[in-house]
Amino acid sequence: MTRSAHLAGIGSFLPSCRVPNAQLAARMDTSDEWIRTRTGIRQRYFAEPGTTTSDLAAEAGARAMKSAGLAEVGAVVLATTTPDRPCPATAPVVAAKLGLAGCPAFDVQAVCTGFVYALATACGLLAMGCVDTVLVIGAETFSTILNPADRATSVIFGDGAGAMVLRSGHTAGNGAVGPFDLGSDGTGRDLITVRAGGAEQRRSGLAPAPGDEYFSMAGREVFRQAVEHMAQSARAVLGHVGWQAGDVDWLACHQANLRILVRLADVLGIPEARVLANIAEVGNTSAASIPLAIDQAYQAGRFKAGDRLLLSAFGGGLTWGSTVLTWPDLTHP
Ligand code: ACO
Repeated sequence: MTRSAHLAGIGSFLPSCRVPNAQLAARMDTSDEWIRTRTGIRQRYFAEPGTTTSDLAAEAGARAMKSAGLAEVGAVVLATTTPDRPCPATAPVVAAKLGLAGCPAFDVQAVCTGFVYALATACGLLAMGCVDTVLVIGAETFSTILNPADRATSVIFGDGAGAMVLRSGHTAGNGAVGPFDLGSDGTGRDLITVRAGGAEQRRSGLAPAPGDEYFSMAGREVFRQAVEHMAQSARAVLGHVGWQAGDVDWLACHQANLRILVRLADVLGIPEARVLANIAEVGNTSAASIPLAIDQAYQAGRFKAGDRLLLSAFGGGLTWGSTVLTWPDLTHP
């Protein structure tokens, strides 16, 4: 019998340092009005000094495991752009913090598409019978790579973490995750990048140019490609699963820009009322954004068992990916 993956638990975590737009406007040439109208963001959260991605990931992971009623999982897959260190991966550190030392744990790097890639990886582990449960986490301390001199990126990103526990199952229906549509285009790597700190820059024999250690993004071009690729990918996955746009109860996309979410819903023919949007409160949390948005909607009691969610993301790489999820009968927290 074909094995499938089911959502068994969910959780998220935000650091305590809330940063409203006005606070950024006080230290750079921007305004609350520009940020709200161009991005939909009103505030974001930054991790306190000393707090790293593994700390946020472990908190979200613990909450997801509690929601699943599990003290152990078979594997930990962490999607992040901001690992604690370039080497080793952060997932084993998270596993150790959760008391899961010994279980397989590794990172997935697909920038803002990371959580969808990590979900697909987890589904593969379950389908092959490698393990029976996987803790999938998206976590970022994006504030650690923001260039304080670049107002165009500094106002967009925030820190946070979201996590899901997937369990192997044998049926479609409530809780089922997948199929997937995934893609990439490495010719666009310069559009979303941190230029310094890798083998390429070190092999050049040159010191990093000023600002190269920070994140940079060609916002306008990325905006266009984000809508195009997420729409294509979302349509592909709807085709695989046999749903029409009208069958989708919730569009749960990467929270990059409120205008992107609205445009995407329009292109797909999904009413705006069905778009999950928490970007106003948390900003763009990259790999954390999809599980964080879904968990906050769940905590607010917005889902009922059987609701159909369409997940789609676009990010650095370039990468994109989509999947579907039928909401399970989770005990409400
Ligand atoms: N405050 C005030 N003005 C600003 C700011 C700011 N914070 N940032 C930029 N501007 C100015 C620019 O200098 C420019 O001024 P000019 O016209 O005088 O040259 C003007 O605003 C317009 O700049 P654009 O970059 O064209 O602004 P745009 O409307 O495109 O918004 C944004 C920028 C928010 C970045 C948008 O392009 C966007 O959301 N892009 C997509 C992001 C995305 O989808 N990312 C994918 C995932 S992210 C990842 O993978 C990590």
